[in-house]
Amino acid sequence: MRTLYVIGIGAGDPDQVTMQAVKALREIDVYFVIGKGVEKQELVAVRTAILTEYADRPYRIVEIPDPPRDRDPADYRDTVLDWHERRSLLLEEAFAAQEGVGAILVWGDPALYDSTLRMVERVLARGALDFDYTVIPGVTSVHALAARHRTVLHRIGEPVHITTGRRLREEGLGTGSTVVMLDADCAFTTVPDDTFIWWGAYLGMSDEALIAGRVGAVAGEIVRQRTQLRERKGWIMDIYLLRPAE
Ligand SMILES: C[S@@+](CC[C@H](N)C(=O)[O-])C[C@H]1O[C@@H](n2cnc3c(N)ncnc32)[C@H](O)[C@@H]1O
Repeated sequence: MRTLYVIGIGAGDPDQVTMQAVKALREIDVYFVIGKGVEKQELVAVRTAILTEYADRPYRIVEIPDPPRDRDPADYRDTVLDWHERRSLLLEEAFAAQEGVGAILVWGDPALYDSTLRMVERVLARGALDFDYTVIPGVTSVHALAARHRTVLHRIGEPVHITTGRRLREEGLGTGSTVVMLDADCAFTTVPDDTFIWWGAYLGMSDEALIAGRVGAVAGEIVRQRTQLRERKGWIMDIYLLRPAE
């Protein structure tokens, strides 16, 4: 039976690749890269550095272009599901055309805000292609953030909630700790001033930026740095932890 690996590669620092991932990389014949056309050069460079350092055998890279997607749809969920279906068809086609052990490298960990596993399940569910797949966990950006700020994600015995910037704006801040990802518009500016924030951008990469403090004291500085970095680099990837004052 054909084998496919879905491998979490960590959130930007090639040293975050696990030994389990390194062992898998030594078995892989072909890497499927989905949506490379829109990927940032630095993200491609991280992946290249990982393969150069750890995949000590010949391999092929097959690029699968992303199908077009409506970024502002009337029905968000249906549009995303349709897009996943079209992506999974392209993956199926590419996988069927290749020999050997395949892999998809996933930023951070495949279980967190990533659609690769859903896509692979769709390919299997269609039943045209029979294969077994293995998921290898990676260091998430959530964990990279906590480590760089040397902090625990929650207070003793309390829960931690992981959400998006859009939902933080719509739903407000809960009582426990909240990690916010995928935030294009600085949703932290909407929470009370005495909330504590631990913010990080480009974690593990050469332009890494870290700021921590009360929202009322540091939000302006985060917005300023975020804008400057995004203008200079053309893109931004940031994440933060919020905790209401006790
Ligand atoms: C599509 S999600 C992918 C998350 C990924 N699977 C993970 O395990 O971290 C992308 C979001 O992850 C966060 N992120 C990923 N890598 C990051 C990094 N190196 N620095 C800061 N934020 C990062 C940002 O919030 C970004 O908007």
